Amino acid sequence: MKPRVVIARRVFPAVIERLQTRFDVDANDADEVWPQAQLIQRLQGATGVLITSGERIDAPLLAACPALRAVCSMAVGHDNIDIAACSARGVLVSNAPGVLTETTADFGFALMMAAARRIGEAERFLRRGEWSRWGVDLFAGGDVHGSTLGVLGMGRIGQALARRGALGFGMAVRYHNRSRLPADMEAALGGARWVSLNDLLRQADHLVIVVPYSPSTHHLIGEAELGQMKSTATLTHIARGGVVDDAALAAALREGRIAAAALDVFEGEPAVHADLLALPNVVLTPHMASASAATRLAMAHLAADNLLAALGGPGGGSQAGQPPPTALNAAERVAHGKQVI
Ligand code: DGY
Repeated sequence: MKPRVVIARRVFPAVIERLQTRFDVDANDADEVWPQAQLIQRLQGATGVLITSGERIDAPLLAACPALRAVCSMAVGHDNIDIAACSARGVLVSNAPGVLTETTADFGFALMMAAARRIGEAERFLRRGEWSRWGVDLFAGGDVHGSTLGVLGMGRIGQALARRGALGFGMAVRYHNRSRLPADMEAALGGARWVSLNDLLRQADHLVIVVPYSPSTHHLIGEAELGQMKSTATLTHIARGGVVDDAALAAALREGRIAAAALDVFEGEPAVHADLLALPNVVLTPHMASASAATRLAMAHLAADNLLAALGGPGGGSQAGQPPPTALNAAERVAHGKQVI
């Protein structure tokens, strides 16, 4: 009998077909997140699950699903997974880094430019039929080229943004990150320079947030931080809802304390703070930074690679029998002495 795995969200048929070669697959064919009780019920007897950033894998779920051995996410962010609880039960966790880096950086850059050059506002104006004449300062925004890019969180995506800014747009790159990059990497990013968070806020013309969400980054950007930014600055957020205090951001935008923002992620999404929805100077998109067709397919295939490697058994396709390519807790599971895969 094949092991049972669950695919918790609608994914691509090619990915389901691959998994069906080794598993009995129970796939959600709807674009709905199953309520937690339903997820737990579907996971009964399942040894693996392919998830997105929308499903919550926590200690109560793990206790209720004792057969579970692998949780493989097609997202890079993993704040929805209690990795320590998974490790304690010998459950492998994987995410999907790397495959979405360039696509996400493209989108972050596009959002930053849209905010700086007021593209959303201008398009809505035109569609409303309000464009009657050219005007010397009609939708005059801030320049991107030659300005200072501030990157908060210098991981893969932050570096890809910095490369675009420095090498493509002649921007001076400042960044803040827990650890500083080696000098040769800073040089390759056009002379990117590490600065304190306060200096980053004060110096950036365009601040882009790519730091992962965790209790320590909750509301990392709130009223006090926004208050340090230039009144002409923009803020672009493509990380995770909760890193920015959305209510404080809306107030700063409304009062002209910063010029504009562009947001792909929100606290409590898919709900969006009503104050943000009411503002003209913010571009709002529905958590889609990694959404190119090719990248979303690659993300789902990478999650499947991890499931096959973890649970597919020997001889079960190219990944089976190999270490899961992007495991997050391989060492911890060994340390807990419960590595059963
Ligand atoms: C990710 O991969 O983390 C993206 O934000 C999609 O959830």
